[in-house]
Amino acid sequence: MSSVLITGANRGLGLEFARQYAADGWRVFACCRDPGRAEALAALDGEISLHRLDVADFERIEALARELEGEPIDLLLNNAGVYGPGKTVFGGVAYGPWAEVMRVNCFAPLKMAESFVDHVAGSGKKLIVSITSRMGSIADNTTGRFYIYRSSKAALNMVMKSLAIDLEPRGITVTVFHPGWVKTDMGGADALLEPADSVSGMRAVIARLTPAGNGGFYGNDGTEIPW
Ligand SMILES: NC(=O)c1ccc[n+]([C@@H]2O[C@H](COP(=O)([O-])OP(=O)(O)OC[C@H]3O[C@@H](n4cnc5c(N)ncnc54)[C@H](OP(=O)(O)O)[C@@H]3O)[C@@H](O)[C@H]2O)c1
Repeated sequence: MSSVLITGANRGLGLEFARQYAADGWRVFACCRDPGRAEALAALDGEISLHRLDVADFERIEALARELEGEPIDLLLNNAGVYGPGKTVFGGVAYGPWAEVMRVNCFAPLKMAESFVDHVAGSGKKLIVSITSRMGSIADNTTGRFYIYRSSKAALNMVMKSLAIDLEPRGITVTVFHPGWVKTDMGGADALLEPADSVSGMRAVIARLTPAGNGGFYGNDGTEIPW
């Protein structure tokens, strides 16, 4: 049985990933900040266990990795993310909240990889996927603004690119995915995609990933996105 560990699995894209992988017969380690209030996640059918994890709490990340010692994890899915304070225009940047966004969106995915690398290396598929955003593409930035979110995802992209190179000798494939603009609390009601469609697209691409795709930045249909 394949297995996936998902951060931020209680709502949005993370919940949909949990739903689809569980329905597909995967063992799902579903992580969220407050399992006691994750009603939708707890109601899912399948081989799902809920785990308390605030990804900003690095000691808790290490403790969870110890709790799951010996469990192979085929796919480590760094999904949890925050947008940060709404308007980040020049002249009004909130530097304090910026640090917290960097911790959740960029530092935590690397800390997850450091803590769970042996679980992934001991699995069959050996995949690490982080959910980034096209807003983190420097090449694609034509509208400016959004300093905080953009920089956190651009930094995540660079971190995952280095990780892809560093973990290649262990046979681990590391990629980042832009999910599209999706109707979640973060994406808002005007977004173009339903979570089910975004996630089924990404899952199809993830299922086809080979070591040749290591270090890639992909859209939900597998299109390569410029860095
Ligand atoms: N929706 C889009 O259009 C879109 C576009 C591009 C990229 N993305 C990326 O896709 C990923 C999922 O976003 P979404 O749209 O599903 O957003 P969402 O609906 O706002 O959900 C965010 C998830 O992240 C969790 N989270 C936030 N901070 C956390 C922390 N410190 N520890 C653990 N979990 C934490 C939230 O948990 P709580 O319920 O506890 O807050 C929630 O489960 C994010 O990385 C986001 O940047 C989304």
